[in-house]
Amino acid sequence: MSDARYPRHASRPRRALSVALPIGLAVTALGAMWALADVPAPVDASVPPVPAAAAQLPGVHVAAVPAADPCAESAVADAIAAGDDEAVIAAFGGGAAFRDAVVVGNAPCISLMDPARIWVVVNKTHELNPTDYVPVDLIESPIQQTTSSRMIHQGAAAALGDMAADLERSGSGVLGMNNAYRSYLLQVSNYTGLVSAEGQRTADLGSARPGFSEHQTGLAVDVVACSRGCGEIANFGGTPESDWVAAHAWEYGFVVRYEAGATPTTGYEPEPWHLRYIGPALAETYHEGGYRTLEEFFGLPAAPDYAH
Ligand code: DAL
Ligand code: ZN
Repeated sequence: MSDARYPRHASRPRRALSVALPIGLAVTALGAMWALADVPAPVDASVPPVPAAAAQLPGVHVAAVPAADPCAESAVADAIAAGDDEAVIAAFGGGAAFRDAVVVGNAPCISLMDPARIWVVVNKTHELNPTDYVPVDLIESPIQQTTSSRMIHQGAAAALGDMAADLERSGSGVLGMNNAYRSYLLQVSNYTGLVSAEGQRTADLGSARPGFSEHQTGLAVDVVACSRGCGEIANFGGTPESDWVAAHAWEYGFVVRYEAGATPTTGYEPEPWHLRYIGPALAETYHEGGYRTLEEFFGLPAAPDYAH
């Protein structure tokens, strides 16, 4: 996949605000402009709610949008009913408009808890519902696998195949897959094994408890470097493959879910091998916004600990 398909927009300002509003306005402004407006405390300081009066502020660009509630749009409703997540995001007006609508609470038809959607957030405070959820759209991974766990979400599979092919073409090595979809029962086995080996406190920094793993959605994939035989996930960081993936995964719809420095938000130690598929539209918005966690991206609280 080339950059032309998902081009960078280098001239676009980071964290520019593009907010779909209940008042039927889309407002783009630099964050500093909000200091001029007497508005209530925002859900996310980077994307505050905007009063109609904001349209009068000097320097604030205001453009009409077709509807106050994107979920009332038939294109959105049809795409949701069809299970076409990329079409839903497109019907919202793209990744940034979708993200902004979710953050300001203007997307009542979008649930970040729906495990069948590419925008689902699974973390230590977002348990899968149902806990033993099984995706319906799993297929076998298109790239070489190093475990017997071979299945992956259909959309993520195609993106993984494209990414691995482009990585190899770039001369940055060879990508393999350790595993992607893990059932509830496999997570029980992994987690309890780690607790036995390392104790619960350490295990909780490296493995999700059963029912709390992104792997159970099929949207997470652990990748390994395979240029001289496939290595382990723990050895992925620092390889040419890892460097290439860190720079380019977003172009294929993936984000590195557990980055260095994000443990206070995610509750996990860095995992450069753990990629999460959110689709190309959201991944481009995530990349261009400089986000480091899905929690930050969607304006959610940090989730470093389980509730109990
Ligand atoms: N290693 C990640 C956190 C998981 O178990 O889902
Ligand atoms: Zn993983």
